[in-house]
Amino acid sequence: MVTAQTPTNIAVIKYWGKRDETLILPVNDSISLTLDPSHLCTTTTVAVSSAFHQDRMWLNAKEISLSGGRFQSCLREIRARACDVEDENKGIKITKEDWAKLHLHIASYNNFPTAAGLASSAAGFACLAYALGKLMNVKEDESQLSAIARQGSGSACRSLFGGFVKWIMGKEDNGSDSLAVQLADEKHWDDLVIVIAVVSSRQKETSSTSGMCESVETSLLLQHRAKEIVPKRILQMEEAIKNRDFASFSQLTCADSNQFHAVCLDTSPPIFYMNDTSHRIISIAEKWNRSEEAPQVAYTFDAGPNAVLIARNRKAATSLIQRLLYYFPPNSDDLSSYIIGDKSIAKDAGI
Ligand code: DP6
Repeated sequence: MVTAQTPTNIAVIKYWGKRDETLILPVNDSISLTLDPSHLCTTTTVAVSSAFHQDRMWLNAKEISLSGGRFQSCLREIRARACDVEDENKGIKITKEDWAKLHLHIASYNNFPTAAGLASSAAGFACLAYALGKLMNVKEDESQLSAIARQGSGSACRSLFGGFVKWIMGKEDNGSDSLAVQLADEKHWDDLVIVIAVVSSRQKETSSTSGMCESVETSLLLQHRAKEIVPKRILQMEEAIKNRDFASFSQLTCADSNQFHAVCLDTSPPIFYMNDTSHRIISIAEKWNRSEEAPQVAYTFDAGPNAVLIARNRKAATSLIQRLLYYFPPNSDDLSSYIIGDKSIAKDAGI
């Protein structure tokens, strides 16, 4: 039995659109930050026993079906790489061949709302790939494991690393070069503080998977973004991260979030992930940034109304929270809670 814990990640240059639905190959590179696991993480226990008669999985204590192609892809890829496991003290000996016949029980728990636009599938599939890899003594490194997690959910590949992570879209049709690499570890820029304003913890109406599929089919802006805009932004973002240049980082992060939501609006029928509260948060951040000599905060929104705000340092984070509390007093209906990352940028997946 192995238990692993994996933090979620938030993209600052977004992945939106696949060129291959089954292998989950994206139309552009993306860059993310791995978040503090004490607030947003998945814990997964995987167990193997000859007493198990089928593979089974529980998510937040409720049994879920493993028949979906994504789970099956991950299980198949990990099983194909399984190695012998031997522990004389515990009297355990499982050979490479045994793994193909043995069944697994998987119990996974999210410490945050599932499917509410807080990247629950990212932490979930990354944790699954990592825990299964440990259980089955898979020798592959994190990048190769990320290519397996990717087949569960695209954004999951970026949660195998801590700090700042890039998902390289790759060129191969079989997806072998579509994997995550670490750009900088969590110590590189530890001034940043992440504040998540939970606007709604309800499950979103349009999942990322179906939303991006509709965007690929109908949005011309998506094609332009993937070919012309993102390649340049990726280079600029890598430079901003390397130089800890908050002004560029903030400008690129906000612009990319806004363009992703513009692509959603450009989709037919249009997809609305943000709501009035999200828009108010954007205005508050923009006005504040413009009133200061240098930007103090970056904002980004995934496929949901919740705001992920990245403050340039602790002082800016304190001021940000004061502003949010002023505009959204504790009893207001607009925001349900705040999640504040004390370590802000997390390390990698771990046992
Ligand atoms: C808006 O990774 O959830 O969060 O690959 O279909 O599982 P699938 O989609 P998913 O999409 C995430 C989209 C996003 C942007 C991002 O994380 O880069």
